[in-house]
Amino acid sequence: MSRLLSIDQGTTSSRATLYGNDGATLATYAQPLTQHYPNPGWVEHDPEEIWLGQLDCVRRVLSVAGKGEVAGIGITNQRETTVIWERATGRPLQRAIVWQDRRTAEFTEALRREGAEPMVRQRTGLLLDPYFSASKLAWLLDTVPGLRARCERGEVCFGTVDSWLIFRLTGGKSHVTDLSNASRTMLFNIHTLEWDEELLRLFRVPRAMLPEVLGSAARFGSTSAEVVGAEIPITGVAGDQQAALFGQGCFAPGMAKATFGTGAFVVMNCGARPASGEGVLATIAWQLPGEPVQYALEGSIFIAGAAVQWLEEGLGMIKGPAEVEALARSVADTGGVYFVPALSGLGTPYWDPYARGVIAGLTRGSGRAHLARAALEAIAFQTVDAIRAMEAASGIPLSELRVDGGATRNDLLLEIQADLLGTPVLRPRCTESTSLGAAFLAGIGAGVLDTGRIGRQWALDKRFEPALPPERREEMCRGWKKCVQLSLGWAK
Ligand code: G3P
Repeated sequence: MSRLLSIDQGTTSSRATLYGNDGATLATYAQPLTQHYPNPGWVEHDPEEIWLGQLDCVRRVLSVAGKGEVAGIGITNQRETTVIWERATGRPLQRAIVWQDRRTAEFTEALRREGAEPMVRQRTGLLLDPYFSASKLAWLLDTVPGLRARCERGEVCFGTVDSWLIFRLTGGKSHVTDLSNASRTMLFNIHTLEWDEELLRLFRVPRAMLPEVLGSAARFGSTSAEVVGAEIPITGVAGDQQAALFGQGCFAPGMAKATFGTGAFVVMNCGARPASGEGVLATIAWQLPGEPVQYALEGSIFIAGAAVQWLEEGLGMIKGPAEVEALARSVADTGGVYFVPALSGLGTPYWDPYARGVIAGLTRGSGRAHLARAALEAIAFQTVDAIRAMEAASGIPLSELRVDGGATRNDLLLEIQADLLGTPVLRPRCTESTSLGAAFLAGIGAGVLDTGRIGRQWALDKRFEPALPPERREEMCRGWKKCVQLSLGWAK
């Protein structure tokens, strides 16, 4: 039987999982990743820590696979996070600037004032926001002494985390990325499927530092035996949200999923032509060999599971995410407390890098449990906002929502989600759709799987039906909107 190895490098952890080509998990290992917050609004990772942690996971998981058994490796990753390294040595030149980092808010705002947004939006499907790689890379090129000249000479590589890992895994042989990750850089034209000259000029990015862009189930190179212990082909790559859409078997236009990780990302398949709409992103979903590129609409929520993490690390209010459900369930409602976790600004549909967190509606009766419940409601409210914007953009009302990611273990969250959305929420048996999606892509690239087989593997664990009266839902949504208004523009 052929096996597939999935590498899932996320914002807060690195994971490797070995799957059978029937999707069964054979072994998995994960490691946390240190977050660095050197200034308010800044978020960084150490690329060397990303690499070493991920390598350790890969080695441990591979140790349970027989020699020659792994048909292909799939890589999926936190997207937009910007890494630069020396081509000759593979040495990182700076800490990675993480997708959540807001340091380039003024820069992107200035570009918007200069009228660049329509051109950027038309070519990339994205909005001028610090979220994407281009402004982060521009910041590095402008602030690291001597960097621009070295990049122009071709001595430095830029990549998202997939690129960085592939470079290291292949012993420096491949400097590549895939279409889905490229589409999140704001330097890639999603229509011509090439790095875009005008965007490179706008952000002053030297072309010589960019990776080659391949389809999602292509030959990205093979692991170096010296590094990993075996030569295994890397045959699938996708950004984590696109991989989750694939892992959820959302192959037909109109099918959508929400992944609840550090952030929450709602992605809807929209077929072979990009769609667009107010406040939502158009993005490349994937391209399979011999098939046209598939596009998606995306609603991006920057803080979801991270809101619960903040209750733990920022406030010391809970001991771990597992505690939040029982605490939130200990009260029937939030007692009028709302929490807008705009800890990294707000994404869809507000796109305000200056928004900041707000807790409102406190009374003498408010306590930890109300705040815990408000945090779960905040994840669900943000998802509702994103879905409404996507429905308006696509003209397709959502009939059901497939969900995945770590936070979907929390039944209360999914009950609240169904209530606030007014639509059934479906949790599959495997909620690690991101990691599974990367393995599936690798299986296609290695020629051991096809989409028909993958689609048939999706199996329901639990369906959450909306139970809240519509008047109550509307009342709650009004309270949420009022609180969002307080958070907008706060740090300006
Ligand atoms: O766009 C950012 C996204 O890819 C990060 O995903 O799962 O690490 O929150 P996650």
